[in-house]
Amino acid sequence: MRDNIAIDGPAGAGKSTIAKEIARQLSFVYVDTGAMYRAMAYYLLQQGIPPEDAQGMEKACRTADITIQYENGEQQVILNHENVTARLRSEEVGNMASVSSASPAIRRKLVELQRQMARSTNVVMDGRDIGTQVLPDANVKIFLTASAHTRAVRRYKELTERGIACDIHAIEADINERDHRDMTREISPLRQAEDAVLVDTSDMDIPEVIHAILEIYEEKKQRN
Ligand code: DC
Repeated sequence: MRDNIAIDGPAGAGKSTIAKEIARQLSFVYVDTGAMYRAMAYYLLQQGIPPEDAQGMEKACRTADITIQYENGEQQVILNHENVTARLRSEEVGNMASVSSASPAIRRKLVELQRQMARSTNVVMDGRDIGTQVLPDANVKIFLTASAHTRAVRRYKELTERGIACDIHAIEADINERDHRDMTREISPLRQAEDAVLVDTSDMDIPEVIHAILEIYEEKKQRN
């Protein structure tokens, strides 16, 4: 049996930073599933396929070849032989991913890829449906969250530090809208798995969160 850690939660809860560091400390592979949904969204934007076009989406699933590679421990997403990793973080791609990830065809394709990765190595995988759908047998499941306001403040700081002008109210509204979409969609909505441990990071810094999750992992390991 592989040792797998599933980390789910809303956008901006700090999943990727935390998951990456836990993977590093345990020598597991970090899998960012959001980047896969973003790569499909990037492809749809590139091809001009609107998310309402179910047939177009199905076709896109057949013509988009997505593979994952690692360079110096960093996940790289390869779309039809091109490394698109640097193009996936824009708001445009993120918003499209939030809409197009409701497509059953896209989810089928990417969940299969995610399960394959978890079969071949120990992973720390983050996303929205890892504990509930992708790896229901993961030995540790974490539901990482923080209030919408805290997440907006973090995003605001991150953007202003990078010299990008932004409005905190617009960011918070965007977070609320994306949460709503992710939690209310019909297929694989974001929700806490019954056996997941809730970690609310609103009043925790990054080292505290990492410490808490590693403790949960060690405890679980000793019990098994
Ligand atoms: O975590 P992120 O912001 O990179 O994810 C982008 C979008 O992809 C997000 O709106 C929800 C979706 N997603 C999903 O539906 N299932 C996952 N396992 C990961 C992300």
